[in-house]
Amino acid sequence: MSPDSGPLPSQPPAGLGLAPFLQRCIQLLLLPIHLLACLGLWDSFYKKAFPYIMAKVAPIYNRKVYKQKQELFSNLRKFTGPSGQLTLLEIGTGTGTNFQFYPPGCRLTCTDPNPNFSKFLLKSLSENRHLQLDRWVVASGEDLRQIPDGSVDAVVCTLVLCSVPDVPKVLMEVLRVLRLGGAFYFLEHVAADHSSWTYFWQKVCDPVWKYFGDGCSLSRETQKELEKTNFSELNLRRIHVTPYWTPTSPHIIGYAVK
Ligand SMILES: C[S@@+](CC[C@H](N)C(=O)[O-])C[C@H]1O[C@@H](n2cnc3c(N)ncnc32)[C@H](O)[C@@H]1O
Repeated sequence: MSPDSGPLPSQPPAGLGLAPFLQRCIQLLLLPIHLLACLGLWDSFYKKAFPYIMAKVAPIYNRKVYKQKQELFSNLRKFTGPSGQLTLLEIGTGTGTNFQFYPPGCRLTCTDPNPNFSKFLLKSLSENRHLQLDRWVVASGEDLRQIPDGSVDAVVCTLVLCSVPDVPKVLMEVLRVLRLGGAFYFLEHVAADHSSWTYFWQKVCDPVWKYFGDGCSLSRETQKELEKTNFSELNLRRIHVTPYWTPTSPHIIGYAVK
């Protein structure tokens, strides 16, 4: 049994032939939402609702990955640049769930394309007075033109690359804004082993997840995209976040150096 396959006794059907069939059934059930999406109504409703959902979900998720995040961000200070203060850019900051892991005195630029997160982000900042917010920019990770080339020591991205429309473009922007020797920190849920039941369910659930996860895909090959990007060093580990059998269980965690 492959490592991602969880407690189920056998392999998924060969070629995942059943997955497209189940996907079509789900797509039929989702037809009303699909119509709303075509009219642009789903997005405008969900962009308002999603920050409230994340405000509930993020603390639960954080408790699950607390140790991993603590360990991941423990060497952030090592990347402090010549200014003596760590300048950190977070992409897709959401509710600011990572703030508690950043070192004191860190100068923060937060970006997110969804302005409806601002209220939650400001609340999180008020609870993390060891940080200094330099800028809050409403921007997608694919277009960080407001951030100058080579201007930050570290970029952080957690549970974001699963949702962005263009992962390579985001990674190119990350490379552009990082100073030489700076680091890109990531924690992302990713595609499971293709021969596993987890992957089978990821493919089946992808159409629903897209609508209820704000564009999120369960089966993204983010590791491959990171390997293709021109970082000088890539430290990456595959981990599972419990419950083990869920489609969001397989994760990658680590940092890459420019
Ligand atoms: C699942 S939430 C994760 C939020 C936060 N990083 C965390 O770990 O809790 C995904 C975030 O990615 C943001 N996002 C969606 N599309 C994006 C894009 N193209 N560029 C940057 N962020 C994006 C969403 O607005 C949302 O804040």
